[in-house]
Amino acid sequence: MAQASTQDWTVVDEGWGRRAVDFATLGEPANCREYVAMHHSLGVDGGDRVLDVACGSGLALELAALRGATCAGIDASARLVAVARDRNPDADVRVGDMHALPWADDSMDVVTSFRGIWGTTPGALAEVRRVLAPGGRLGLTVWGHIKVSPGAWALAPFRLADDPAVAHQAAMVALGRPGAGEDLLASFGFAEVQRVAVPFAWEFADPESYARALAATGPAYEAIRVVGEDAFHDAAVATASRHVRAGLPLRAEIAVVGYLARTS
Ligand SMILES: C[S@@+](CC[C@H](N)C(=O)[O-])C[C@H]1O[C@@H](n2cnc3c(N)ncnc32)[C@H](O)[C@@H]1O
Repeated sequence: MAQASTQDWTVVDEGWGRRAVDFATLGEPANCREYVAMHHSLGVDGGDRVLDVACGSGLALELAALRGATCAGIDASARLVAVARDRNPDADVRVGDMHALPWADDSMDVVTSFRGIWGTTPGALAEVRRVLAPGGRLGLTVWGHIKVSPGAWALAPFRLADDPAVAHQAAMVALGRPGAGEDLLASFGFAEVQRVAVPFAWEFADPESYARALAATGPAYEAIRVVGEDAFHDAAVATASRHVRAGLPLRAEIAVVGYLARTS
């Protein structure tokens, strides 16, 4: 049974969808190490029915399909889903809410979610549990300990949002704390829960391309509504300019926690 979401998912597209093409081409590809590592850890293979929850513009689905999986995805942003469908014409990609998955019980072998299910959205796990077949595999990632990450600077412009939004962003990373994800997954009936380190490094050509990629995200939109496009852009460029290295890309390594689990 679906659990009610505390947030209105229909407004998500305002932030995440407004620059869907920038997100798809400049932002999402920078997450590729995370997708490859989790698909490898989950053993995604031919014959697997894979659902990616909060699939964004569908790059992770495309990589799962390359491993032979039959893919489905869901995201609240219609404009990101349009890109995901373009990239994955054979996949079943829906616009919708992760708290009410439009798939039957036991219909998936693998569910992934890459920084899509958070401390603020635990109810989605009941739905994930429902659609996974017995013995199904779950792979989730969440931000880890950002403050001690060498690339923490890359997320700093999000703090230009108002206080409630920044507090919400902080609550969203709670699932990465030691024991938090393990306890939560066990409470939703998942077994064999393991925490794994996930490689994550954003790379950009220069401060301008970093600022453009960052501005295409939902948390950036929360900041832009407060300070405006120009101030957000200038702050992002100034932040990144302090990390330019001659002859090398801008690189921000950020701690990401992966959880692997099974349904019994
Ligand atoms: C941090 S992004 C992750 C996107 C993608 N997984 C990636 O790796 O880049 C969060 C995503 O969650 C989606 N989202 C937010 N709330 C949602 C909801 N209630 N149901 C489904 N998707 C949602 C957003 O549209 C956005 O694409």
